[in-house]
Amino acid sequence: MRSTEASSVHTVPSLPDSSVNLPSCEITIDGALASAFVGERLIDAINRSGKELAQVCYHHRLGPIQTCDTCMVEIDGKLARACGSTVSAGIKVVTESAAARAAQREAFDRILGNHLLYCTVCDNNNGNCTVHNTTALLKVEHQQRPYKPKPYEVDMSNPFYRYDPDQCILCGRCVEACQNVQVNETLSIRWEDEHPRVLWDGGEQIGGSSCVSCGHCVTVCPCNALMEKSMLGEAGYFTRWPKQALTGMIDLVKEIEPELGYGPILQLSETEAAMRKARIKKTKTVCTYCGVGCSFDIWTKDRHILKVEPGEGATNNISTCVKGKFGWDFVNHQDRLQRPLIREGDGFREASWDEALELVARRLGEIKAANGPDALGFISSSKCTNEENYLMQKLARGVVGTNNVDNCSRYCQSPATQGLFRTVGYGGDSGSISDIAQSALVLIIGSNTAESHPVLATRVKRAHKLNGQRLIVADIREHEMARRADIYISPRPGTDLVWLSAITKYIVDHGKAKTDFIHQWVNKFDEYKKSLEPFTLEDAEQITGLSQETLVRIAEEIIAAPSMCVLWAMGVTQHCGGSDTSTAISNLLLATGNYMRPGTGAYPLRGHNNVQGASDFGCMPAYFPGYEKVADEEVRKRYEQGWDVKLPTSKGLDNHEMVDAIHEGKVKGLYLFGEDMYSADSNANYVGAAFSMLEFFVVQDIFFGETCRYADVVLPASPSLEKEGTFVSTERRIQRLYEAFKPLGESRPDWIIVQEIANRLGAKWNYTHPADVMHEAASLSPMFAGVTYDRLAGYKTLQWPVAVDGTDQPLLYTKHFNFPDGKAKFYPMDWIPPCETVDDEFDLHLNNGRLLEHFHEGNLTYRIAGVHEVSPNRFIEVSSELAEERGIATGQWVDVTSRYGEIRTQVLVTDRVKGNQVYMPLNSPEKPLNLLTGSFTDRTTHTPAYKETPVKIKVLPWRGENPLPRTNFRFGTPTPQRGVEVERKWKRADYRMPGSGLVQIQTNN
Ligand code: SF4
Ligand code: SF4
Ligand code: SF4
Ligand code: FES
Repeated sequence: MRSTEASSVHTVPSLPDSSVNLPSCEITIDGALASAFVGERLIDAINRSGKELAQVCYHHRLGPIQTCDTCMVEIDGKLARACGSTVSAGIKVVTESAAARAAQREAFDRILGNHLLYCTVCDNNNGNCTVHNTTALLKVEHQQRPYKPKPYEVDMSNPFYRYDPDQCILCGRCVEACQNVQVNETLSIRWEDEHPRVLWDGGEQIGGSSCVSCGHCVTVCPCNALMEKSMLGEAGYFTRWPKQALTGMIDLVKEIEPELGYGPILQLSETEAAMRKARIKKTKTVCTYCGVGCSFDIWTKDRHILKVEPGEGATNNISTCVKGKFGWDFVNHQDRLQRPLIREGDGFREASWDEALELVARRLGEIKAANGPDALGFISSSKCTNEENYLMQKLARGVVGTNNVDNCSRYCQSPATQGLFRTVGYGGDSGSISDIAQSALVLIIGSNTAESHPVLATRVKRAHKLNGQRLIVADIREHEMARRADIYISPRPGTDLVWLSAITKYIVDHGKAKTDFIHQWVNKFDEYKKSLEPFTLEDAEQITGLSQETLVRIAEEIIAAPSMCVLWAMGVTQHCGGSDTSTAISNLLLATGNYMRPGTGAYPLRGHNNVQGASDFGCMPAYFPGYEKVADEEVRKRYEQGWDVKLPTSKGLDNHEMVDAIHEGKVKGLYLFGEDMYSADSNANYVGAAFSMLEFFVVQDIFFGETCRYADVVLPASPSLEKEGTFVSTERRIQRLYEAFKPLGESRPDWIIVQEIANRLGAKWNYTHPADVMHEAASLSPMFAGVTYDRLAGYKTLQWPVAVDGTDQPLLYTKHFNFPDGKAKFYPMDWIPPCETVDDEFDLHLNNGRLLEHFHEGNLTYRIAGVHEVSPNRFIEVSSELAEERGIATGQWVDVTSRYGEIRTQVLVTDRVKGNQVYMPLNSPEKPLNLLTGSFTDRTTHTPAYKETPVKIKVLPWRGENPLPRTNFRFGTPTPQRGVEVERKWKRADYRMPGSGLVQIQTNN
């Protein structure tokens, strides 16, 4: 299947959530028998039966809200809302009785009192408008209650979307989504107000409220009250008309409606909606930012991005974060590289593809001929597709003859993978995000999940808010998840292994380890138990700064929890002991029997959209695709046969070792794609110095990043929206992306460029589509044996390993662990202190990480006008204690200096950091943060110890504005509540349930 438009291959969503695991039964709907599930929402059973029942506020991903009253039916002779009723066996439901019909129409008439039907000139008239379609379904001709505007202005203060109170029907979908799906708790409706409307933070403007612009509310709004600004004036044929003309049209509708009725008006608008289909393209894609793996349709008109429409993604359904929903403008940014560049002196000149590729092939060939294949290095990309990564490692191994190939998982994820390799065998999440949501206890360590993996965080926030899930957070910084936690601990930096091992020892010593599970499934318990001896509560208290009481409390929580998932990220991995701490996490899970069941397991949260896939598909110096060792002769022979080449036998250099090898003169040429390595690797000055020493350096990217400054040739590549391929998300989920745009200018998809270079180096590759590449990878790697593009068509996904027959494994360990005897292994514990700690001179501990609205160094997100508007600057977070001690305040300029470099920035005083800990976001419009970080690494994987960076600050004699604009969401004050709280609406003096005093509504039947 090579469809470029996902709309032709959508799958039907599975049964609505309310029916999962319920006993089946039969009911009668309008006289016909229908199958249903006892206890499910009646509205789901009716919808499944094929009956068309009006329903405006109901959205099956949100559940019953019960604000609109349009779904009134008779159940055993009594009028009730179908969405608010549950199924019992044998009930008789009538949707079309006179009473039900009249109630439905009366309810909808009330809605039209809040909403003007000007569909033909409305940007939401795209065939899927719930209000429009309900008007048609109920065959409404005339309104009994006149439309009344509300006494509020349109709110345009958010850069991405706007709210029009005059069109708001007060269904509350947005409130429900914000309160209970995104769980940002910004939106509410004060039902007691004379003219209720949706409120941000109880009545603030959107800009400057706590709204994080995730877009959930806009996605679920059933009309045009909430609209993406990118749609306005763009979606319709007549919607770009000047305001005066639009107002004239709207007035005309009001004038002719009493005489003509809505019939002809709707006919006209439906014709116009049909015309839009010819020019609006909807393409399924997978998010290019973090590793959660959200997928959605992107609506485009020529090269204009109209909107992102989530709904069917296996991971995210209606959810997105600000970047997935609104963060795509970089694709059309003027800075995009569009022609190859060749260095000329200190600058570059544009060149043809032929000239650039000839030069690349010639120089790589010359270096290989003079120095051997290991004088070349290849660095692949966690932002490129699996197919592109597969080709990069094939180029390195099969064409050039070196295993010097790596990807940026070295900078973040390798220690987590190592910890899992040691203990359970596979380097991937043990289950799915749905497992995390259903776990009784979630333990988050060193992860700012709400900002770095926002959609995944929503599942934890929801389970914690609504389902009684317990939450423990360990992080040195008090971020959103820490504030939500039942237990929040802030251990001393680099000491996580100690407290994890101490609580495991406590659990074992108190006879609470799951001995049956251990006996059946885990080796080396005695050896591990012995290694725990030094980790007493007393010593742990001294090293971590956590009280023994707190440690016992955490241990007891874990003992009491029927199931536990552990989530961790860079706060664990980017230390000298990152692999060991990851191992300690897995040991704890094994000791407590928290593997092999739904709702349990280890979840290292992958940072980039395809950081999992880049490693899965072989861009690692010791592994072929599917983590088969290059040193394994049998495996190597399989690849030699498959590729018809002789392959190198020994492990290559990882990217950290490559930088050292360049300094040593051993690596002389480098080909890097999709990675601003100068900004991303630690100790940028050292990395930049290495790049300067290269004899030849090829960089392939979509923008001219810092790394390009060192290149000899820069090749213009295409981002995800301009190509096809697959990504693997953090939950091992392989998903397809489709081409929304043709490559901009002369840029090309990376897989095409790599193939061109390979063939100029003597290969005879003939891939005509990424599907060909996946076919080859699946034929050689058992982990992907059953992966085909057909099985991934549209929104279909597979979670590896995938058997030949296409069976995948959402839960990774069910029958065995990934070792020859099927058993997991405990791995003995040994703590090493951080490599660098604060001293008298460098007296502050610098922590670093992502901001929600930016991604990594910001090379994409600074090119999104809306993100730039709310978050234009870099800053350093300083605690109020430190601010007081140094006499500084927000806006103060300081020089931040480490043993490796210096950065000038502004202070943001916050209570998210404490004492002498400071925090800087990774993103920066100027010099990279990694000028400050050093070259110490995790002792096993060489992942830089980014989180072990002592610094000092020098206060400069000037102070500016707050580096965060007032419109940033961090200034907002959320208004948590249980949801829409419709009961408050029902208590209004002017509310009565429709049907209780029927109003005759004129219709055309
Ligand atoms: S939101 Fe829907 S019903 Fe309202 S004017 Fe637009 S298309 Fe028509
Ligand atoms: S956080 Fe903002 S964009 Fe997201 S649902 Fe709430 S109000 Fe809407
Ligand atoms: S803004 Fe909210 S309450 Fe108003 S119509 Fe849209 S989803 Fe419903
Ligand atoms: S759909 Fe049932 S009350 Fe709105």
